[in-house]
Amino acid sequence: MTAGMVIIGAGECGTRAAFALREEGYDGSITLVGSEPHLPYERPPLSKEAMTSGEAPSIKAIADAARLAEHRIDLKGSTTVISIDRANRSVRLGDGSDLAYDKLLVATGSIPRKLPMSGLGARCVYLRTFDDALLIRQYLREDVRIAIVGGGFIGFELAASARKLGAEVTVVEAQPRILMRGVPEEIAAIVHETHVTEGVEIVCGDGIAAIEDDGNLVRIALSSGRTVVADLAIIGIGAVPVTALAETAGLALNNGISVDARLRTSDPHIFAAGDCCSFPLAVYGHRRVRLEAWRSAQEHGALAARNMLGAEEAHASVPWFWSDQYGLTLQIAGLPDEGERTVRRDLGDGAFILFHLKGDGRLVAASGIGPDNTVARDIRLAEMLIARSARPDLTALASTAVKLKSLLAA
Ligand code: APR
Repeated sequence: MTAGMVIIGAGECGTRAAFALREEGYDGSITLVGSEPHLPYERPPLSKEAMTSGEAPSIKAIADAARLAEHRIDLKGSTTVISIDRANRSVRLGDGSDLAYDKLLVATGSIPRKLPMSGLGARCVYLRTFDDALLIRQYLREDVRIAIVGGGFIGFELAASARKLGAEVTVVEAQPRILMRGVPEEIAAIVHETHVTEGVEIVCGDGIAAIEDDGNLVRIALSSGRTVVADLAIIGIGAVPVTALAETAGLALNNGISVDARLRTSDPHIFAAGDCCSFPLAVYGHRRVRLEAWRSAQEHGALAARNMLGAEEAHASVPWFWSDQYGLTLQIAGLPDEGERTVRRDLGDGAFILFHLKGDGRLVAASGIGPDNTVARDIRLAEMLIARSARPDLTALASTAVKLKSLLAA
């Protein structure tokens, strides 16, 4: 009898891997260990629709108990893995028991980066889990002042939700502009303007000098001398990979758990996938990246599962990311920082796409913004062009008279 497959982390990636193992025909035991008490759930809605619909956020489960049972996935919720014993191929759980594995998947994700200063109390919070969302939601209403530290995706998605519910919002971003990580300036400018129009105050290029949180009120002293007073401060200053288990087990690390293109760690019996790992991205000459994105987590989960079963399949897809704020959708295929020049395609209603190209004309990324789903179709087609290392005609890219689909055929 074999020991079975063990997955640490019941988020998007780990859960997807568990289902993929069964769908690929694996017949042994599959154990999915997660520290949260809930059924596996979708995280993206926590800052968006789950926050604004209804009196309290509700869970959007990835799979209910019946589906888990049907796939014979043993979910161990409220359970923490405390160590990995590589020699005996087993993991130790918080209750002291051991769980043996044939193959282990580490899908521990990432957690919010902590603000490195004292003074933070009960009114300074982070958003990662459903329980965090429940807490934050209590404050999102009229006459409540919300300070958001960090002008990134979490910060602005929450700012939009908070405004929708009538709260006053101030966002403090340390960099000279918002969304510096991975979002081109032209697109960030649209996001900035939209938030200002919706009543959000945005302070850029100012640091946090000190925070005073007495449990009722937060006073954030900025480097410029200004003080932002709030009923709640939400910190969204980035995410860090959860690597402690892997590190203690002696697995190689490199901006997260280091894996090869097949998502295998430095131990051939252990794979890592999702936010917690860095891997070589084939589409950019195997540049090592760590992606924090919902679709990447799903794809990684499925790929890791196939490779745990011996497929020897290399990662080949193009990264894709989206964010919704107010009626705007922002979508990015590929990594815009790979580009050396851009071509703009205007889609009407203020929507546009920027194509990011190498000096030799190869399309490496596309980023778009616009009302609801105006950009989704073209970004999808751009993603296919990027995957093919296409060198599309620049005039055709800029002109909506030319359908992107026709460039694919070329
Ligand atoms: N004060 C103010 N701003 C700061 C500070 C600071 N001390 N430190 C960092 N920042 C800013 C960064 O410059 C950046 O603009 O916080 C922002 C963090 O943005 P992201 O890197 O996008 O991280 P975050 O918004 O926290 O999102 C974390 O959740 O939805 C996912 O994809 C998202 O993986 C990301 C994760």
